[in-house]
Amino acid sequence: DNHVVIMAGGIGSRFWPMSTPECPKQFIDVMGCGRSLIQLTADRFDGVCPRENMWVVTSEKYIDIVREQLPEIPESNILAEPCARNTAPCIAFACWKIKKKHPHANIVVTPSDALVIDTGEFRRVMEKALRFTDDSSAIVTIGIRPTRPETGYGYIAAANQLQTDKEIYTVDAFKEKPDKETAEKYLAEGNFFWNAGIFVWNVRTITSVMRVYAPGIAQIFDRIFPDFYTEKENETIKKLFPTCESISIDYAVMEKAEAIYVLPASFGWSDLGTWGALRGLLPQDKSGNATVGTDIRLYDSKNCIVHASEEKRVVVQGLDGYIIAEKDNTLLICKLEEEQRIKEFSK
Ligand code: GDD
Ligand code: MG
Repeated sequence: DNHVVIMAGGIGSRFWPMSTPECPKQFIDVMGCGRSLIQLTADRFDGVCPRENMWVVTSEKYIDIVREQLPEIPESNILAEPCARNTAPCIAFACWKIKKKHPHANIVVTPSDALVIDTGEFRRVMEKALRFTDDSSAIVTIGIRPTRPETGYGYIAAANQLQTDKEIYTVDAFKEKPDKETAEKYLAEGNFFWNAGIFVWNVRTITSVMRVYAPGIAQIFDRIFPDFYTEKENETIKKLFPTCESISIDYAVMEKAEAIYVLPASFGWSDLGTWGALRGLLPQDKSGNATVGTDIRLYDSKNCIVHASEEKRVVVQGLDGYIIAEKDNTLLICKLEEEQRIKEFSK
């Protein structure tokens, strides 16, 4: 049976100050379409699996937001982390728990902060990947054709096309977040894809690769395992989850694992990770400026993204390639090309 695990515990620090630790971007209607990013993520999987097979892993402080935004997902499928330990422990938490009740589960792990335009094609790709991993120990990644030397994504080097399925490739290497120079090299080489952060694998594969590449985390969940679905579960999680190493699945497993495959996809994917990504998605004026707000006036400016709360008048003159973002008591003015550093500034 197919399950989806939505990871929703990140704080979206490169999207500060719109995204804050109190309400990170996955819970915000970033595009102004009436649905937050996590709601759009869950909607996209309707048809791939029923809502009772959808799981959300998030920080205990966001549990109420998730329940409110996704009322169709059973409350018992919303898993609370007592502290943030990045995505490897997050995935282990959900998958060990799913395994106890559904030892044959086939799982899509997805971020909650990306946008997909063509949801029909997205479902086709998910179903294809799920068919591939149902009875194999493959890890299928979703590859997006890169358009710029982005340093905020993982890169997947595709190797050989499979004889049995021409849409799927074996993978030479998985490289998480390269520096600018390396990203430029990857872009020029032509066989590299961006990692969409979506992983398809069955629950036996997940637990066994984690035992090999993240044994510390696997051991902790082997200890928690007997207590899942018992009255001791919460207490055990509170005690043992914080002892997990803080590491992303990309560094812990994907860079090292062997049976990785890539399914290149073109369903209009965009990681709404940064201000630059949002600028690329919003309509732009003829000078390349994108704005969100009610009273934004630009003079002699180009290639800017301006984001302001309602009722706030923002006047910008003479800027090229800047982020100007305002929320509550914070104002950020930052060169777009330095946007990866917003993580540091938001501290
Ligand atoms: N539950 C939980 N706990 N979720 C988390 C945690 C955590 O500690 N940390 C991050 N997440 C969630 C985020 O909310 C997001 O939905 C997802 O996991 C991915 O985390 P990000 O922090 O957004 O990762 P990234 O964008 O820097 O990099 C990943 O995604 C890129 C594509 O968007 C990597 O997989 C890259 O390789 C990939 O290119
Ligand atoms: Mg992200």
